[in-house]
This record gives sequence, C-alpha cells and structure tokens, in this order.
Amino acid sequence: MFPLIREILAMAPRSQELTVRGWIRTKREMKNLVFLEVNDGSCLASIQCTLDPAAGGLSPAKLGTGASVEITGKLLPSPARGQEAELAVSALTVLGEAPGEDRETAEGTIRAYPLQKKRHSLEFLRETPQLRGRTNTLGAVMRVRSRLAFAVHRFFQERGYQYLHTPIITGNDAEGAGALFRVTSQGGEGEFFGRKSFLTVSGQLEAEAYAAALSRVYTFGPTFRAEHSNTARHLAEFWMIEPETAFAGLNENMDLAEDFLKHCINTVLEDCAADLAFFDERIQPGLSGSLRSAAESPFTRMTYTEAVGELRKPGAGPFEFEPRWGADLQSEHEKFLTEKCAAGPVILTAYPREIKAFYMKLNPDGKTVRAMDVLVPRLGEIIGGSEREEKLGALCSRMKELGIDTEGYGQYLDLRRYGTVPHAGFGLGFERLIQYLTGMTNIRDVIPYPRSAGQLF
Ligand code: 4AD
Ligand code: MG
Repeated sequence: MFPLIREILAMAPRSQELTVRGWIRTKREMKNLVFLEVNDGSCLASIQCTLDPAAGGLSPAKLGTGASVEITGKLLPSPARGQEAELAVSALTVLGEAPGEDRETAEGTIRAYPLQKKRHSLEFLRETPQLRGRTNTLGAVMRVRSRLAFAVHRFFQERGYQYLHTPIITGNDAEGAGALFRVTSQGGEGEFFGRKSFLTVSGQLEAEAYAAALSRVYTFGPTFRAEHSNTARHLAEFWMIEPETAFAGLNENMDLAEDFLKHCINTVLEDCAADLAFFDERIQPGLSGSLRSAAESPFTRMTYTEAVGELRKPGAGPFEFEPRWGADLQSEHEKFLTEKCAAGPVILTAYPREIKAFYMKLNPDGKTVRAMDVLVPRLGEIIGGSEREEKLGALCSRMKELGIDTEGYGQYLDLRRYGTVPHAGFGLGFERLIQYLTGMTNIRDVIPYPRSAGQLF
C-alpha cells in the first residue's frame, strides 16, 4: 500500500522518491514554480508539492482545488517555515478533475467545486455532507471521532466488559418517553412482526438482561429518537454507549462514568494533539486547558436538591426559567452549575422521581431516585444513568403509577423474577462527547450525516 501523508510527514527527508495520493487543497502559481498543497485526510497537515511547469508533461492547468492527484517526487527538507519536508515533483497524474467554474458535459452541467479556498461557514458545509469531510474542520472531527470509538472499546474491554449488540428494531420503549420512530414494511399489510415495532431509543433493557448473565456488558450503537427539539445538541439518529454492571450500585456507576470520561479526554489529549490544537485555535479557545483540568481533578458531585439550592442563591441568576425543586433543569441551569459553580464536570444525583424514568431505583426518602446525570461545561447533560430497581414489587408499582402497561415488559420483569441482582448503568451520547472534546457547538457537525427533524441531506 502507498504511504499516507501522515506517514510521509513523519519521515526524515533524505531525497527519497515517494508517491503521494490525495486531493489538492490549494494551488499557488509563481513565475517558474507551482506550489500545491495536497491533503489525504490522514492528518490535519497537507504536504507541499513544488513543481516546475517548464519540465516536460507537468501542465498545471487541471490542478484545481478539489482535484485528486497521484504525485511522485523527492522528499526534501523544506526551506519554508512551519513544515519539515516538501515534495519536489517529477511526475503528476490528475485522477479526477474538480472544475473551478461551471462546465457543460455530455452528462449535464458540472458545477464549480463548491469548496474553494476561502473559509466556508459550517451551515453552508452542512448542505454538502458528501464533500465537507474534505475540510480541515470536518476532517479533524472525524479523526477524533474514530479515535474515540476505539478508545471506548479499549476502556471497557480492559475492565472486563463484554461488547453487546442490542437490537435496532424493538417492541418496547426503553425510556417510557414516547419519542419513538415506528418501523413498518413498505406496502406490506398489517404489522411485519405481528405487533408494533420501533427503532430503539436505548439498548438498556436488553443490556440489563445480559448484565444479569455476563456481569458486565456495554453497548455502542445507533439510537433513534423522534424528538422535535431542534437544538444544537439533539439528533434524531445518534450513537450511544451504554455500560451495565451487575452487583454494582450508584457509587460504582459514578466512578465508572468519571473514569470513562477522563479516559476519553486523555485519549484526545494524547492521540489527537494536532487536531486538538486546531480546535483550540479555530473553534474553542482554551479548549485544551479546560480538558486537561477536567482530566486532572475529581468531578464535583452533588444532589439535585443541593444544585437547586445553588441555583436559588442570591446572585446566581438571572435565569429565564426560575429554578424550582421538582422541575427539570434547563440548559441555562446546567451551564451555571458547570461553568460558574464547579468550573468543570458535575455529577448530579437523587433527582425527583417525577422527572425520571420508570426503571430507576427509589431512594429511602420515597421522593427521589438513584439517578446520576453527568453535566459538562458548554453542553450540559452528556451522561444519564442510574441504579436500577431490581425488586419486582417496587418496579411493578412504579410502572403502574406511571401508567406503563407491565404486559409489554414481561421479559424485563423476568429479570426481577429469576436471580435478580443490584445493578446500575448509564448512557453516554457519543456525539455530545465529541462536541465536548472538540468544542464544536452544533451536534450536526460531529456526525458524518446528521439526521434531525426536517433535515435529511
Ligand atoms: O439520558 P438518556 O435518555 O438515558 C438513557 O437513554 C438511558 N437508557 C441510559 C442508560 O442508563 N443506559 O440518554 C443518555 C444520553 C444523554 O445524556 C445524551 O448524552 C444522549 O444520550 N442523548 C442524545 N444525544 C443526541 N441526540 C439526542 N436526541 C439525545 N438524547 C439523548
Ligand atoms: Mg437524560
């Protein structure tokens, strides 16, 4: 296999002959020298290629931004600032042109390559998802995303967790929140599965079943929510990581979540240094420093009641929504808690039972549940989890109270009928994690093809 640009740039330049493949980012024409910046997405940096247009066969005419090329040349130490090596071109082939102006062809008009030299807005790029991966920002995001996916598996595998593939099509609403997409077959009559079916909103219920068999499991897969909240942190299709641990309670769950987030932060600090420096400079000034400090200090832990107390202290506001015990925290409240109060991630526990899901274990006070949400600066909630209600009677009465039909949850209740054990778990939204670690403000810019209400590019 030919070398990637990241490998070439790591070599010491000794006039060795090499072939580079990639896409032209920019071309600068001087009197008797042409400079091409070629990028292959393997790293943020491009390789500078210099060619002498007078040399036989090296016509620079077709070398527009966006064209794909195969270039052979000698790797030489570079006289330019900020780069170690450059390629002195001896042979060049354009594999695919990218016209700089609209062009008529037998197949119709080919529009000018939309990503020209200037900086494009992220909104503009969102409408061109098939090309935006070729920009510095989206390229860096997708490299970080890939590295983090690997880090997620490494973290859980090293701690004895088994990777569990939970179903994408399910028959029940794991969150009891009703934000479900229905699954039907095109043109078919009746229900394909003989009963109503949906896209999963969470793999938790199935993960609980396997935690009660394998002790420690985690899921990492696509998740779907028909939420109409058109915010910068909600998608209709996102990826979630859900560990579930048997013989564990709320404290073990909190420790696991904190260790896991720190592991992810350290991965980006260590393995994605160049991309992170780019985000720090262009997207979110101060990003690396705030991540480093989050990785080094213990997360602040407080109860929901204490948090509401902080929010109601004189001088805490002003808030658009008054903080009130019993109500869901608004994102302005989460922002205050993480940015002003704790200046770092916060783990909140003991939420009012009324605002949390049916499966959470009740605290002895009867009013709050053993929930744990992890909030981070800039974003708010990034993890939601809890200790689970493992007693059959308590779970059934909680479901009845919420008007949930226990019939549909027979398999889930069986786990409480046969060999029930205390257990706990949480869900981390993978895109929110990437937002936190890259500073990207809109969740649509951290997934290759974003899906949200009214948008399917
Ligand atoms: O808090 P949530 O709804 O919790 C659950 O789904 C539990 N079953 C998890 C568990 O205990 N196993 O969702 C968990 C996380 C949220 O904290 C958020 O990061 C992310 O999933 N999330 C979304 N991310 C993007 N778009 C959406 N629409 C999201 N909804 C939730
Ligand atoms: Mg939640």
